[in-house]
Amino acid sequence: MSEPSASPEPNPFDILGEATVALVAKRFYDHMEASEPALTAMHRLGDDGRLHPEVRERFALFLAGWLGGPQEYMARHGHPRLRMRHAKVQVDTAARDAWLRCMYAALDDAKVEGPLRAFLDMRFADVANFLRNAEG
Ligand code: HEM
Repeated sequence: MSEPSASPEPNPFDILGEATVALVAKRFYDHMEASEPALTAMHRLGDDGRLHPEVRERFALFLAGWLGGPQEYMARHGHPRLRMRHAKVQVDTAARDAWLRCMYAALDDAKVEGPLRAFLDMRFADVANFLRNAEG
């Protein structure tokens, strides 16, 4: 049996499961590469011109922790400090909306539905809005 958790209520990670959370992170960047060239170009790319695998890996770790799963991102990279880590990119309304389109498409792919989906849509929109740092 695993150690009892300090917060026993199921969190989004528990409800979705590890595989679904990993799928959301993967599909998020797949959509970005396929449909959002401007947003893709803001990210670190590999020699092949595709998103650098580390970008995918870091976000996948972050997402699992942010949804209530293992705090692996924190252990490896420290506190996310999202506004600070996004300071070098111009996050305007267009970038925010492109980001959210990718995330909502990924959540669709992973069949995240119902009240949890409504909650996550809202939380992602809140964070994306909070990260805006440029006019327009
Ligand atoms: C609002 C529009 C957003 C834009 C344009 C954006 C763009 C970016 C870019 C360009 C990077 C750098 C990747 C790299 O080259 O290393 C990044 C990293 C990251 N973003 Fe965003 N992002 C947005 C929203 C969000 C949101 C809403 C979240 C969380 C819910 C998020 C979480 C992260 C994380 C965790 C990283 C990795 C930080 C690191 O470890 O260096 N981003 N983002």
